[in-house]
Amino acid sequence: MPATDVTPAVRRDRRREATPRRLLMCRPSHYGVVYSINPWMNPEKPCDRDLALAQWEQLHDLYTSLGHTVDVIDPVPGLPDMVFAANGATVVDGKVLGARFRHAERTAEGPAYLSWFRARGFDDFLWPEFINEGEGDYLLVGRRILAGTGFRTDPRSHAEAQEFFGLPVTGLTLVNPRHYHLDTALSVLSDDEIMYYPEAFSPGSRAVLGEMFPDAVLASAQDASVFGLNAFSDGYNVILPEAATGLAAELRERGFNPIGVNLSELLKAGGSAKCCTLELRSPRG
Ligand code: ARG
Repeated sequence: MPATDVTPAVRRDRRREATPRRLLMCRPSHYGVVYSINPWMNPEKPCDRDLALAQWEQLHDLYTSLGHTVDVIDPVPGLPDMVFAANGATVVDGKVLGARFRHAERTAEGPAYLSWFRARGFDDFLWPEFINEGEGDYLLVGRRILAGTGFRTDPRSHAEAQEFFGLPVTGLTLVNPRHYHLDTALSVLSDDEIMYYPEAFSPGSRAVLGEMFPDAVLASAQDASVFGLNAFSDGYNVILPEAATGLAAELRERGFNPIGVNLSELLKAGGSAKCCTLELRSPRG
C-alpha cells in the first residue's frame, strides 16, 4: 500500500453485489405542497404535479429495470404526502411496525398503509403506541436498526421497535430541521456501510456513528443540501439525487454504482428517492 494512503481501512476493492428487493411505492396522483410541516415546504411556491408524476414514474421504472419488485399502494385523495412511502411503516423479517405520524396533516396515512399490509397477509404487525414515521426514521443496517429522533419519531418508540423486531436499536438525535428524518441525513449502503452528514446530528450521536462506522462516507454540506443522503442502495446500485455529485464520485470510488435521479418536484415537499421507497423485507430463512 502506498505510504500516502491515509485511509487504509477502507476496502476500495470490495466486491459489490446487488440483491433484488421488494419495494412499496405510492404514485403522487394527489401530490402537492398545500401545508408546511418542514422547512422545504412552501405552499406559496408553484409545484407541478404532472412533472412530479413523470419523475416518480422514472424512479419506479428504474427500480424495475434493476430487477426489483415494486408494489404500488393506491394514493388517497387529501393525503398529498402519501407519495413518501418510506414513512408508511417499517418492515423487517416480514414484521410490520405501523407508522404513527407527528402532524395531523399526515395521521390518516398510518392506517392507510397498515390496511394495505393486512390485506396482503402481513399478519405480524403492530399498531404502535408511540409516534414513529416509519423508515423515515428507522433504517436497517445488517441486523441492527438505526433510529432517528429529534423532530418526528418519539424516542420512546425506539424501545417499542427494539422489542417488536427483537433487534438492537441505536437512537440518533437529529438537530438540523432541514434534515428532520433520519433518511435525509444518513443512508444505508450495505450490511455494514453507511453514508451520512455529521452536522445533522447532535455531538453525542455523531460520536456514536463514528464508533460504529469509522469508515463511513461523509457527505459535504453541498451534497447534503441537495438531499444526496436520501438514497436507496441495493448493495451495488445507489439511487440518489443527481445533484449530489461529490457523493456519487466517492461511491464510485468504493465500488458502488451511483445512479442520479431528478425528483425536483418532490424535493419541494422535502422528499426524494428514498422517501418514495419503502422496503418490504421478507421473513428470514
Ligand atoms: N412532506 C413530508 C413530511 O414532511 C416529506 C416526507 C419525506 N419522507 C422521508 N422519508 N424523509 O413529512
